[in-house]
Amino acid sequence: MTTLWDKKFENDSASLEKWLYGKQSLTGSTRQWFIDEVKVWPKGTALLDAGCGGGVTAYHLLEQQLLSNISYTGVDASQCMLNLAKKKIKHQNVNWVLSPLDALNYPNKFDKVLLRAVIEHNLDPEPILKSVANVLKTNGVLYIIFWNNPVFTGEPKIKKIEDGFYDNSHSMETVLRVLQASKVDLIHKEFIKEKSENSNERLVTKFRKKS
Ligand SMILES: C[S@@+](CC[C@H](N)C(=O)[O-])C[C@H]1O[C@@H](n2cnc3c(N)ncnc32)[C@H](O)[C@@H]1O
Repeated sequence: MTTLWDKKFENDSASLEKWLYGKQSLTGSTRQWFIDEVKVWPKGTALLDAGCGGGVTAYHLLEQQLLSNISYTGVDASQCMLNLAKKKIKHQNVNWVLSPLDALNYPNKFDKVLLRAVIEHNLDPEPILKSVANVLKTNGVLYIIFWNNPVFTGEPKIKKIEDGFYDNSHSMETVLRVLQASKVDLIHKEFIKEKSENSNERLVTKFRKKS
């Protein structure tokens, strides 16, 4: 699977690094909201960062001395994103996997899964949501941080950037329906303003998998 990121950055990793690590918006409030959650997890918690990109979340976990307490797996379909992640984060508790998210084969393996700014780039969120629900243990928690807030009533807003790459606002109804069918229920939602941007508030959510 060659992603748009690979086409854009495969011969220019320095620009990718500058874009991801030199930009205030990517170190902002929604990511810190997630990192504050990690601070209270029990030792050994297994986290899957689904669509981990260039590893910015793992980088902040490392900076805030939280990686030693957890087992972190980052999965992404983009080789150049993973190359950057591997370069920036070196830690024994970290594992990187090149894979599309709808092909994850780790049933009941993770205590927590993070999807941050990921489903928006897919035409159909359903296969990804089913796949991450499947890798969660019973009572495990799925965090979805929406970069484009979902549509709460009415039709999703589908924006095609190029073949296989989108910038969507999916419908919350679809997200809830697919997850509920996989026994994963919404337990928390709040809007957070990215302090570094003059953007709208972004939706951060938590779901728990039932037995
Ligand atoms: C906007 S970036 C966000 C990266 C990271 N979650 C963060 O918050 O910094 C989206 C990432 O998700 C990955 N991604 C999107 N859809 C995917 C899919 N279906 N399978 C695997 N990776 C996917 C992309 O390759 C990209 O690296």
